[in-house]
Amino acid sequence: MFLNSAGSSLTPKIVLKTMVDYLHQEEQFGGYETANRNSEIIQGFYDETAKLLNCKSSNIAFATSSTDAYAKALSSIPFKEEDCIITTDDDYISNQIAFISLQKRLNIKVIRIKKNQDNELDLEDLEDLIRKHQPKLIAVTHIPTNSGLIQNVEGVGKICRQHNILYLVDACQSVGQMVVDVQKIECDFLTATGRKFMRGPRGTGFLYVSDRVLELGLVPLLLDLNGADWTEFDNYKIFKTAKRFEYWEISYSSLLGFTEAVRYANQIGLNNIEEYNKKLAATLRTHLENKGFRILDKGNNLSSIVTFCSKDGEIDSIQNILKENNIYFSVSYKGGALIDFSHKNIDKAVRLSPHYFNTVEEIEKVSQLLSN
Ligand SMILES: Cc1ncc(COP(=O)(O)O)c(C=O)c1O
Repeated sequence: MFLNSAGSSLTPKIVLKTMVDYLHQEEQFGGYETANRNSEIIQGFYDETAKLLNCKSSNIAFATSSTDAYAKALSSIPFKEEDCIITTDDDYISNQIAFISLQKRLNIKVIRIKKNQDNELDLEDLEDLIRKHQPKLIAVTHIPTNSGLIQNVEGVGKICRQHNILYLVDACQSVGQMVVDVQKIECDFLTATGRKFMRGPRGTGFLYVSDRVLELGLVPLLLDLNGADWTEFDNYKIFKTAKRFEYWEISYSSLLGFTEAVRYANQIGLNNIEEYNKKLAATLRTHLENKGFRILDKGNNLSSIVTFCSKDGEIDSIQNILKENNIYFSVSYKGGALIDFSHKNIDKAVRLSPHYFNTVEEIEKVSQLLSN
């Protein structure tokens, strides 16, 4: 039973077939000739991803992971000494490490938005922080890796637009499991990976870049020939579209596999996926709670990531039962969720992440097994 789509999900058959077919062509014709022959289908990646996010193809860059996309976006922002980044307690570990790295190098202030009693972002606090610190960037992870919380990215987006502040959203865990609409979020950058709820291959991801950012002329600090024309000995001219955030060398078989995964999700419809997944995850939480487990997901709007432990904070016996029954899952540790797990006073949690290919019967079965 596969309950680890928040880790690395199962690819639809068409994804694997597309990748293998492409690799066979590379074997026969070489990489460059194969890419030339497939240039139109390669463009399909940008069109299909634009459809997913409700934007234009020119706003999309391919990335090899969420972190790759995130680092390029961050590096494009011209931070100066003592600039400020506002983020959240629940932002992904690697994002927090990147902010701290900027803090170490440039003395950047990293400030986190307070949360209210419901574990939701306190938007009044955000407004206060903006007035006080005039941040260069606001960065929010839509769904953290370590809990079922869905952060209010639209609420933050509205405030960013009012104050004209750059806004970076990590949607790594949300794309593929729910509707992610960049027009509604009003972000400048949005990053995601292929292998999780999108059901794409490993080594894939994307970066959305808003028209506003493209017009500002932002580019990754270390761009390459995919981002600019070398026009003079000491100058270059940047390209117009988000492709300037890509590097020239990528795996086209992976890109095409990912394209098929995005198409597959678009065809099912993200509305349908979101509705079904919400029910599945809510059912799982109710069952586990009724069996006496401690559910760790707090918030008004919860996702397909279900985290829990036993009442005394232990997870060993839960892990044993899941492993004995071939149920695929993940464990989140405090090191990856330092702030959240410190507040919850836990060191680790079991993470189950059902997706639309799972059934209510499976959810009932796993709850039953765990209660024995
Ligand atoms: C919320 C979130 N952001 C970013 C990442 C990093 O993704 P990648 O490993 O593709 O860089 C993860 C991975 O678990 C994640 O859960």
